[in-house]
Amino acid sequence: MLQDVVEYLVCPHCGQGLTTAPDGGALRCPERHTFDIARQGYVSLLPGDAHTGTGDTAAMVAARDAFLGAGHYTPVAEALAAAAPADARCVLDLGAGTGYYLAAALDALPAAHGIALDISKFALRRAARAHPRAGAVVCDAWRPLPVRDGCADLVVNVFAPRNGPELRRVLRPGGTLLTVTPTPRHLAELVGELKLLGVDGRKEERLAATLGPHLESAGSSEHDFAVLLDHEAVRTVVGMGPSAWHTDPAALAERIAGLPDPVRVSASVTLSRFVR
Ligand SMILES: C[S@@+](CC[C@H](N)C(=O)[O-])C[C@H]1O[C@@H](n2cnc3c(N)ncnc32)[C@H](O)[C@@H]1O
Ligand SMILES: [Zn+2]
Repeated sequence: MLQDVVEYLVCPHCGQGLTTAPDGGALRCPERHTFDIARQGYVSLLPGDAHTGTGDTAAMVAARDAFLGAGHYTPVAEALAAAAPADARCVLDLGAGTGYYLAAALDALPAAHGIALDISKFALRRAARAHPRAGAVVCDAWRPLPVRDGCADLVVNVFAPRNGPELRRVLRPGGTLLTVTPTPRHLAELVGELKLLGVDGRKEERLAATLGPHLESAGSSEHDFAVLLDHEAVRTVVGMGPSAWHTDPAALAERIAGLPDPVRVSASVTLSRFVR
């Protein structure tokens, strides 16, 4: 519930704390900046001039929800949950999407509350219901995050944008960041058959370069597993990848039609730990 996490949120205009308005329908700061709580339970804390153009569309979100719900990436959720520090109380998921990984972390942390942060309201409609101890907040990862300095014991970031300075600011000293990024082996068969651009072999290096100046690297592990995907799931997983993957849609559809149905594909991710 959003109410459980309001204490961690700040106003995107003036940076002061937020409280729930007496009628329960909005959050408000002492300067009376007011943010309506959507019927679906999330709140937008984007400053007025921001746009939501980079977020996932309703169709992309529905496809991802079905894909994750089918359990294809369960090993990733399990690895993340196993790596979560047991004493974490406040958990943020930056670029949370539907809240699938945040829910997995909260299941492993019975005393914690979580906040799903994402720029897509379509994703957050689902994230707001992803877990009873989670709230969902629309914001832009490339702007100051609308959460208090040092409030987070744990931040998770799965296939999503990473803003080093803000990740450092919102973590408490000693707090943990867990990131999940694809390795060059991720979906290698699809990359080959569908002529997609593969994962940059220096992704690991770039991750360290982005976060290194702000947080201390504390190890990583690789997780390789196979997934069996029907053509719908193949389309979803291609859509979930970086936009650079998108080739000509007609050619892509034709190549997908030529794949076995279902097709066995390798999944491969790096789970990295950083500490403030
Ligand atoms: C590939 S998806 C991953 C979602 C989720 N972590 C998962 O793995 O299911 C990337 C997510 O980042 C979000 N996103 C993209 N740009 C963003 C931004 N500037 N600020 C916040 N979220 C953003 C998208 O809306 C999307 O939900
Ligand atoms: Zn304010």
